[in-house]
Amino acid sequence: MNETDVVEKYPTNFEAWIQEFSEWQTRIGFDPSWLGDYRFDIKFDWDTAGSEIEFGDFSGMPKWERRMQIPQQNIRDAIINMVSVQGDTEFASVEQQNHLLASAPTEYDRKSALRIMCEEQRHGWQMAYLLCTFFGEQGVRQRW
Ligand SMILES: [Fe+2]
Repeated sequence: MNETDVVEKYPTNFEAWIQEFSEWQTRIGFDPSWLGDYRFDIKFDWDTAGSEIEFGDFSGMPKWERRMQIPQQNIRDAIINMVSVQGDTEFASVEQQNHLLASAPTEYDRKSALRIMCEEQRHGWQMAYLLCTFFGEQGVRQRW
Protein backbone atom coordinates (compact mmCIF):
# COMPACT_ATOMS: atom_id res chain seq x y z
CA MET A 1 0.00 0.00 0.00
CA ASN A 2 1.46 3.35 -0.95
CA GLU A 3 0.60 6.76 0.45
CA THR A 4 -1.97 7.42 -2.27
CA ASP A 5 -3.88 4.30 -1.27
CA VAL A 6 -3.96 5.45 2.35
CA VAL A 7 -5.25 8.91 1.43
CA GLU A 8 -7.95 7.46 -0.81
CA LYS A 9 -9.34 5.51 2.13
CA TYR A 10 -10.37 8.77 3.75
CA PRO A 11 -13.56 10.48 2.56
CA THR A 12 -12.77 14.05 1.62
CA ASN A 13 -15.81 15.85 2.89
CA PHE A 14 -17.74 16.53 6.03
CA GLU A 15 -20.80 14.60 4.89
CA ALA A 16 -18.71 11.43 4.71
CA TRP A 17 -17.40 12.12 8.19
CA ILE A 18 -20.99 12.39 9.46
CA GLN A 19 -21.56 8.78 8.38
CA GLU A 20 -18.45 7.71 10.29
CA PHE A 21 -19.69 9.68 13.29
CA SER A 22 -22.96 7.77 13.19
CA GLU A 23 -21.06 4.49 13.10
CA TRP A 24 -18.98 5.64 16.08
CA GLN A 25 -22.14 6.35 18.07
CA THR A 26 -23.31 2.82 17.36
CA ARG A 27 -19.95 1.33 18.37
CA ILE A 28 -19.97 3.05 21.76
CA GLY A 29 -23.63 2.25 22.41
CA PHE A 30 -24.95 5.79 22.15
CA ASP A 31 -28.47 5.69 20.77
CA PRO A 32 -28.99 8.76 18.53
CA SER A 33 -32.64 8.85 19.59
CA TRP A 34 -31.39 10.00 23.00
CA LEU A 35 -30.54 13.31 21.37
CA GLY A 36 -34.21 14.18 21.03
CA ASP A 37 -34.41 17.56 19.30
CA TYR A 38 -30.77 18.39 20.07
CA ARG A 39 -28.94 19.36 16.88
CA PHE A 40 -25.26 19.32 16.08
CA ASP A 41 -25.12 22.84 14.71
CA ILE A 42 -21.91 24.53 13.66
CA LYS A 43 -21.59 27.68 15.72
CA PHE A 44 -19.25 30.54 14.91
CA ASP A 45 -19.47 33.99 16.43
CA TRP A 46 -18.46 35.88 13.30
CA ASP A 47 -20.10 39.08 14.53
CA THR A 48 -17.76 39.52 17.48
CA ALA A 49 -14.72 37.65 16.17
CA GLY A 50 -13.44 40.60 14.15
CA SER A 51 -11.52 40.41 10.92
CA GLU A 52 -7.99 41.09 12.15
CA ILE A 53 -5.51 38.85 13.94
CA GLU A 54 -5.41 40.18 17.48
CA PHE A 55 -1.96 39.26 18.77
CA GLY A 56 1.39 37.72 17.92
CA ASP A 57 3.65 38.11 14.92
CA PHE A 58 0.70 38.63 12.57
CA SER A 59 -1.23 41.07 14.76
CA GLY A 60 -3.30 43.53 12.75
CA MET A 61 -3.26 41.46 9.59
CA PRO A 62 -6.50 40.03 8.13
CA LYS A 63 -7.54 36.73 9.70
CA TRP A 64 -6.79 33.71 7.57
CA GLU A 65 -9.90 32.26 5.94
CA ARG A 66 -8.26 29.37 4.11
CA ARG A 67 -5.46 27.00 4.92
CA MET A 68 -3.13 28.28 2.23
CA GLN A 69 -3.41 31.85 3.57
CA ILE A 70 -1.52 30.68 6.65
CA PRO A 71 2.01 31.79 5.84
CA GLN A 72 4.00 28.96 7.41
CA GLN A 73 3.56 25.19 7.36
CA ASN A 74 4.50 24.91 11.03
CA ILE A 75 1.58 27.21 11.91
CA ARG A 76 -0.80 25.15 9.75
CA ASP A 77 0.45 21.98 11.43
CA ALA A 78 0.06 23.49 14.90
CA ILE A 79 -3.53 24.58 14.18
CA ILE A 80 -4.44 21.17 12.79
CA ASN A 81 -2.91 19.48 15.82
CA MET A 82 -4.78 21.73 18.24
CA VAL A 83 -8.11 21.18 16.48
CA SER A 84 -7.47 17.43 16.33
CA VAL A 85 -6.63 17.16 20.01
CA GLN A 86 -9.63 19.30 20.93
CA GLY A 87 -11.96 17.08 18.93
CA ASP A 88 -10.36 13.93 20.25
CA THR A 89 -10.99 14.98 23.84
CA GLU A 90 -14.62 15.81 23.08
CA PHE A 91 -15.36 12.35 21.73
CA ALA A 92 -13.22 10.63 24.34
CA SER A 93 -15.20 12.33 27.10
CA VAL A 94 -18.41 10.93 25.65
CA GLU A 95 -16.92 7.44 25.64
CA GLN A 96 -15.79 7.88 29.25
CA GLN A 97 -19.13 9.30 30.43
CA ASN A 98 -21.23 6.70 28.68
CA HIS A 99 -21.52 4.49 31.76
CA LEU A 100 -23.05 7.37 33.74
CA LEU A 101 -26.35 6.92 31.94
CA ALA A 102 -26.84 3.49 33.49
CA SER A 103 -25.54 4.41 36.94
CA ALA A 104 -27.10 7.86 37.45
CA PRO A 105 -28.87 7.95 40.84
CA THR A 106 -31.84 9.95 39.58
CA GLU A 107 -33.54 10.66 36.27
CA TYR A 108 -32.47 14.29 36.63
CA ASP A 109 -28.83 13.17 36.92
CA ARG A 110 -29.21 10.87 33.92
CA LYS A 111 -30.64 13.68 31.81
CA SER A 112 -27.88 16.02 32.94
CA ALA A 113 -25.22 13.48 31.92
CA LEU A 114 -26.98 12.95 28.61
CA ARG A 115 -27.07 16.70 27.96
CA ILE A 116 -23.32 16.93 28.60
CA MET A 117 -22.69 14.01 26.25
CA CYS A 118 -24.75 15.72 23.54
CA GLU A 119 -22.85 18.95 23.95
CA GLU A 120 -19.47 17.19 23.90
CA GLN A 121 -20.44 15.46 20.68
CA ARG A 122 -21.41 18.81 19.18
CA HIS A 123 -18.03 20.24 20.14
CA GLY A 124 -16.28 17.34 18.43
CA TRP A 125 -18.64 17.67 15.47
CA GLN A 126 -17.50 21.28 15.06
CA MET A 127 -13.82 20.30 15.23
CA ALA A 128 -14.39 17.69 12.51
CA TYR A 129 -16.16 20.34 10.45
CA LEU A 130 -13.15 22.63 10.76
CA LEU A 131 -10.72 19.91 9.73
CA CYS A 132 -12.79 18.70 6.79
CA THR A 133 -13.80 22.15 5.57
CA PHE A 134 -10.74 24.31 6.07
CA PHE A 135 -7.73 22.00 6.05
CA GLY A 136 -8.18 19.90 2.95
CA GLU A 137 -6.57 16.47 2.69
CA GLN A 138 -4.37 17.05 5.72
CA GLY A 139 -7.39 17.90 7.86
CA VAL A 140 -9.39 14.95 6.56
CA ARG A 141 -6.56 12.59 7.49
CA GLN A 142 -6.45 14.04 11.02
CA ARG A 143 -10.08 13.59 11.97
CA TRP A 144 -11.33 10.58 13.83
FE1 LIG B 1 -16.48 20.13 25.06
